[in-house]
Amino acid sequence: MEYTFPVTRTANPKPRPADETQLGFGKLFTDHMFLMNYTEGQGWHDGRIVPYGPISLDPSAMVFHYAQELFEGMKAYRTPDGTVQLFRPDKNIERMNNTCDRLCVPRIAPEVALQAICQLVDIDRDWIPHSKGTSLYIRPFIIATDPMLGVHPSKTYIFCVILSPVGSYYAAGINPVRIMVEREYVRCVKGGTGLAKAGGNYAASLIGQKKAEESGFAQVLWLDGIHRKYIDEVGAMNVFFVIDGVVITPDLTDGNILPGVTRRSCLEILKKWGLPVEERKLAIDEVLQAQQEGRLNEAFGTGTAAVISPIGELYDCGRSYIVNNNEIGPIAQRLYDAIYGLQTGVLEDDMGWTYKIG
Ligand code: COI
Repeated sequence: MEYTFPVTRTANPKPRPADETQLGFGKLFTDHMFLMNYTEGQGWHDGRIVPYGPISLDPSAMVFHYAQELFEGMKAYRTPDGTVQLFRPDKNIERMNNTCDRLCVPRIAPEVALQAICQLVDIDRDWIPHSKGTSLYIRPFIIATDPMLGVHPSKTYIFCVILSPVGSYYAAGINPVRIMVEREYVRCVKGGTGLAKAGGNYAASLIGQKKAEESGFAQVLWLDGIHRKYIDEVGAMNVFFVIDGVVITPDLTDGNILPGVTRRSCLEILKKWGLPVEERKLAIDEVLQAQQEGRLNEAFGTGTAAVISPIGELYDCGRSYIVNNNEIGPIAQRLYDAIYGLQTGVLEDDMGWTYKIG
């Protein structure tokens, strides 16, 4: 790989995690990070790799007040032949730029963002864990840095990429989780920022998650903000249901669903397998009725962090609805094996989705 960004290496490399079973998600960070500045009139400039460490900002920086911030999530994997690869990085970078548009943040040229990510991962490649189920989580993000309190788009920004060796997102791994249907709060509405990976969306979701966890559930099932009827997402993930053998996921047309890369990959693989797939509005009542009639075969969330997260129970209005005997369903398992197999190079990439680094 040609290095195009200057690198300042750390003088104090951190010890690598001794026990990869204890990694959890996003708790440890590697030795370096990527930084690049934006200044109106000059564009994005001064891309560089520096030792991982605090970023100093004026307390009036706009990100602290009006949350003009966005992020992405992707992963780097070690393959059996020792190479390192990304999974569909072009799709994450395209989504990052779509989020930029929604939040009035200047776009970053896709080749610049890809080079930044690849060069950083290459420098910290010995941080990529080796054990099954682990990977190196990549967190690119952009923050607005203008030191002023007027509400308008910032004229200066920082693009930063940090890396974290991770294990399972949920402590329970790929085991089915208990999900509470959220009837009080909503994640987003049509016309809002639901389709964007804006930090503010996740801030707004915390209260639902807190409520769910206090009642013994892993996450919430969000309903749409207008009718309070149609399924939106599960926690921070896209959601799929299998009813009468048909795989159904909410469609993207209203702009309230995040266009997940794992969501898209699942849809494309399911179609390749010839399974019936529908992207459409799906009312919570339809799902609960299907469960009552024994027609709800499976339910699962999809996302970069957890890949596939089976739903073992839905809880709504004081009533529990068990899904597939609280077991991982065959479609969820098959999708997990296919996607994780491609990501880690265990399966041959017949989809052209992997991108080798170095
Ligand atoms: C993902 O599923 O990858 C997510 O977006 C969750 C992330 C915010 C930790």
